[in-house]
Amino acid sequence: MTAIAAVSQEIVRVGLGARGYDIIVGPGILKDAGRYVAPLLTQRRTVIVSDETVARLHLDVLIAGLRREGIAAETVTVPPGEGSKSFAGLETLIDRLLSLAVERGDVIMALGGGVIGDLTGFAASILRRGVDFIQVPTTLLAQVDSSVGGKTGINTRHGKNLVGAFHQPRLVLADIDALTTLPARELRAGYAEVVKYGLLGDAVFFNWLEAHGQKVLALEPAAVMRAVVASCRMKADIVAEDEREAGRRALLNLGHTFGHALEAELGFSDRLLHGEAVAAGMVLAFELSVRLGLCPASDATRVRQHLQAAALPVTASDIGAPLGVDALRRHMDQDKKVAGGRLTFVLAHGIGRAFLSRDVPEDALRQTLTAFVEA
Ligand code: NAD
Ligand code: GLY
Repeated sequence: MTAIAAVSQEIVRVGLGARGYDIIVGPGILKDAGRYVAPLLTQRRTVIVSDETVARLHLDVLIAGLRREGIAAETVTVPPGEGSKSFAGLETLIDRLLSLAVERGDVIMALGGGVIGDLTGFAASILRRGVDFIQVPTTLLAQVDSSVGGKTGINTRHGKNLVGAFHQPRLVLADIDALTTLPARELRAGYAEVVKYGLLGDAVFFNWLEAHGQKVLALEPAAVMRAVVASCRMKADIVAEDEREAGRRALLNLGHTFGHALEAELGFSDRLLHGEAVAAGMVLAFELSVRLGLCPASDATRVRQHLQAAALPVTASDIGAPLGVDALRRHMDQDKKVAGGRLTFVLAHGIGRAFLSRDVPEDALRQTLTAFVEA
């Protein structure tokens, strides 16, 4: 028996009443997909949306898994990368879906990372005034974050994710086998989002990551299962309580206000992946919390050391681009989380104890940024 076969599938429920759904996590799920998908279909057909890279690696297994249950699948592939998450990309996708005669009662499937999930979910939310969709996330980031919770959307020239809709999937199929083909850098970037769950609300999980995080990064099946399931449980719990981000869901933005400014300064390019920016942003959020006397310095040190051990950027020199406090500050002001002219920060009283704050003094913020860009 292989190590993978020794790990069994687990189900996490997102408790949203009539719009609730299961997240199935485990190995071998793509080849079993038909079994999970069939009960949701009124006709034995679906359309799979993917990107060219993921399609080359994983589409055949998914199609075979659907065919085993008599489900026919058409496919639409788009170029990989953020560029597809655009008005132009959306128009092309919608056009293809209409050409394939997708009907109101059909269910479409998103096979890929967060780009495919966000784009396909948004297309599903507006196609024929809303069709159902299934998330089949293939990056670690998508398995632990973007495929769960129903945030869908595209980027505009004014910024990322500025046009979209809340549209919950009917099902999430997270096959951990798909992660074996993921480039190491993408895996590490997704790992930052796993760490985020420990930092924002589960110190015991963070302790576990400190001991076993390298096993997750080495894709040891039992460790990956625990990391993905724990992350999905926490996200499901938060989304069930606060679907539309009126309160607690905003804690999921830990590291994002700083991270977004870093991403913006680097032009949202491959020079800094989203998860990498979140890693540096979480270090900054803890450093700021320490500076404000809210958090023990030893906790910020643990955060920094853990992310560093995962080869994630924690200083400006790790990012390897000249960064200026003024420029970062300007990006923060443009951040969508500015409400009534005030930035909302996710700060922490310690590991696992994040909270929202709209009262961050400018001098402490600038000092934190200065220490970061000079390190
Ligand atoms: P991505 O979808 O661009 O995938 C990263 C790269 O990995 C792509 O080149 C893709 O082709 C490739 N890839 C995907 N799966 C693979 C596999 N199994 N093997 C080999 N290559 C594979 O990026 P991502 O990091 O998954 O997602 C980032 C996007 O998610 C951003 O657009 C971000 O805004 C969005 N996001 C959304 C939410 C949400 O709640 N909706 C949350 C976080 C992030
Ligand atoms: N990724 C943040 C959220 O889903 O709310």
